[in-house]
Amino acid sequence: MAGKVYGIGVGPGDPGLMTVKAVEVLQRAGHVFAPISKDGSTSIALETAQRFIPAPTPVTKLLFPMLKDKRVLHDQWMKNYEAIRDAACRGADCAFITLGDPGIYSTFSVIAGLFKAHSPDIEIETIPGIPSFCHAAARAGMTLVEGDEILAVASANDTRERIGALIKTADTAVFLKTYRDRNRLLDIVKDCGLLSCCTYMRRCGMQGEEVIRECDKLPDDPDYLSLIIVKKPHEENG
Ligand SMILES: C[S@@+](CC[C@H](N)C(=O)[O-])C[C@H]1O[C@@H](n2cnc3c(N)ncnc32)[C@H](O)[C@@H]1O
Repeated sequence: MAGKVYGIGVGPGDPGLMTVKAVEVLQRAGHVFAPISKDGSTSIALETAQRFIPAPTPVTKLLFPMLKDKRVLHDQWMKNYEAIRDAACRGADCAFITLGDPGIYSTFSVIAGLFKAHSPDIEIETIPGIPSFCHAAARAGMTLVEGDEILAVASANDTRERIGALIKTADTAVFLKTYRDRNRLLDIVKDCGLLSCCTYMRRCGMQGEEVIRECDKLPDDPDYLSLIIVKKPHEENG
């Protein structure tokens, strides 16, 4: 009988913020899979979860390159799916670990989609994790939304138009992936007159964590593990 495939959110990078359920599944999984973006690189999800994975459990790193070429990407994703499928077909319960929550900009959505399309008989279960921005807000001592306020979550790589519209609508806008287009995002926020409402956070819950409230003076070295929260003051919310 085929094993089950779990998509496990390991939270924002602090092992203490993993859920009991995530730990339980990792302790009894037959094979663990962890995403990496470059050959030979470390997996932050794996570093976070490592202490909960019993030593004999096989761990395989799967490459998810940050490329634009859809054909190359799809071929690589298929290889990753096949590696997990083969382990599941050998009867192993497979744990695919991912940073934060598996439902938020996660490589697990790619894997889950391929299983649904090609191996619908293999059971998939998602174990949620604490999203990076919830932890970031907590570290900054900030409430994300209250009452009837609107929270938006977006990628900083989205278009200027969509980002501008979202900032105008939402009471609080969270931008993930603020490494490549961070300065363009800050320009848009500035155009909306909200630069003073920005908080930049990087490596939340990890070594090198920083919370910076003056976003006109950000360090020059954009970090993959960084995000920006734009929270309008209450009087602007109407
Ligand atoms: C591919 S997305 C994954 C999001 C993740 N699934 C979640 O629920 O937070 C990667 C982005 O998440 C954000 N991120 C994840 N962990 C973070 C951390 N510890 N500190 C700051 N940002 C983080 C960054 O914006 C990063 O570019």
